[in-house]
Order: sequence, then C-alpha cells, then structure tokens
Amino acid sequence: MIKKIAVIGAGTMGHSIALNFSIYGYDVNLYDTNSTRIANVEEEIKDELEFLAEEEFIEPSEIMKALSNIHYFTDLQEAVMDRDYVIEAAPEILKLKQELFQKLDEFCLDHTILASNTSSLNLESMMALISNDRRKKMIVNHWYNPGHIMPIVELSFFGNMPEDIYLKVEHLYKSINKQCVKVLKDVPGLVANRIQQERYFLLSNKELLLQKI
Ligand SMILES: NC(=O)c1ccc[n+]([C@@H]2O[C@H](COP(=O)([O-])OP(=O)(O)OC[C@H]3O[C@@H](n4cnc5c(N)ncnc54)[C@H](O)[C@@H]3O)[C@@H](O)[C@H]2O)c1
Repeated sequence: MIKKIAVIGAGTMGHSIALNFSIYGYDVNLYDTNSTRIANVEEEIKDELEFLAEEEFIEPSEIMKALSNIHYFTDLQEAVMDRDYVIEAAPEILKLKQELFQKLDEFCLDHTILASNTSSLNLESMMALISNDRRKKMIVNHWYNPGHIMPIVELSFFGNMPEDIYLKVEHLYKSINKQCVKVLKDVPGLVANRIQQERYFLLSNKELLLQKI
C-alpha cells in the first residue's frame, strides 16, 4: 500500500500535487533544486488551502493538518529514500528527466514506484537510464492544472508494469477522489491533450473543420 509520497519539482504542478495528497492525510516530501522556491512555496500552498476553505471544499481546521503533512527538501536523496511513490514534476526536458530517473532509481527503495507527470514525452524514452527491475515500477501519471482542483488523472498501462502494481497506483488515486483514465498506448500527450490539440488544429483550419462536420 502506498503511504509515503515524494514530489520532485515544486512548480505549478508539483506544489499542487503535494497539496492535494496532503489534504487526504498522505505524508509528502516536496523537493526542488531551487532553494528560493522551496523557501517560499509553503506560503503559496497555505494561500491555496485557505481559498479551498473559503469555498467550502475543506474545513478551516484541515488547513494546518494538511500543511503539517508536507516536508520541504533541497537534497534529492533525503527526499526520496523512504518513499513508496515518487512523482516527477520537473521541466519538460527529456535529458533532465532521464538523468533524474536514473538518480531516483539509485536512491529509492526497491519497492518504490516512480511516476512522471510529463505532458508530452514517451515513457519508454524517459526510462532509458533505469534498471530493468525499476522499469516494472514506472508509470506516467498525468495531472491537469490546477492539480488539486481538476478531477482527472491519466495513468499509463503500457506493458512495462505488472497489473498488481498498476492497481496500487489506481487505488492511491481513487483514495484522493480522482477519476483515473487508463491509457494503453505510449503516445505523446496521452488522451486529453491529444483531443485538445486536435480541436485547436481544426479550429485554426476552417476548411478541414467543415470537411469533418
Ligand atoms: N503546467 C501545466 O499545466 C502542466 C499540466 C500537466 C503536466 N505538466 C507537466 O508537469 C511537469 C512540470 O510542469 P510545471 O508546469 O509544474 O513546471 P514549472 O516550471 O512550473 O515547475 C518545474 C519545477 O521544477 C524545478 N526543477 C528544475 N530542475 C529540476 C530538477 N533537476 N529536479 C527537480 N526539480 C527541478 C524548477 O525549479 C521548478 O520549480 C512538466 O513535465 C509538464 O509538462 C504541466
């Protein structure tokens, strides 16, 4: 069962993912290479929790509980060494993610499942530098922005991961009230982003749009 989580990258998506898990009582380590970001992100998370309380999504008493569930790190090994599930939400640069997953493979426990929040990169290419054993424990979990409000998470099931491990991840997301979309093919953009791209493409190509109608 997944209990301890780490989120790698405390930017737009990472801080929001950490905040979402913290509301549901999960113990979350939030890591970023940028120490200024790590020093300031708690204030941003607090503001968002206060907004959720004002809008009656959570009780005011839950704000401090959620905040106490998140711990802040600038040392990657310390952030991930005892975690069950590690979500990468770092910049969308393939080489950066490959090298990050190589380090995570080295620093994490054998059972730890690694996840990427990538919007467009292939799982297969992101796994280039990790061990064969870890390949069975690596998934794309694609959140939508803002993560703590949007109800959908796309989960990859591309053949690298046994079903029992996939079901652990699905169970984790169901426990925080996310609707899981199981994606079976390793294509950039998974499902929802591809639909959006097709829509934008058609809207900017009126002749093609008329043909489709
Ligand atoms: N923004 C969105 O709407 C959105 C939606 C879904 C998925 N995504 C995906 O989520 C991921 C993160 O996107 P974002 O919008 O949160 O980016 P962001 O730029 O807001 O945040 C990235 C964070 O990662 C940190 N970082 C840089 N190098 C790092 C490293 N080596 N290790 C750890 N942290 C590092 C940065 O300091 C920054 O705080 C990307 O893969 C992106 O494609 C973004």
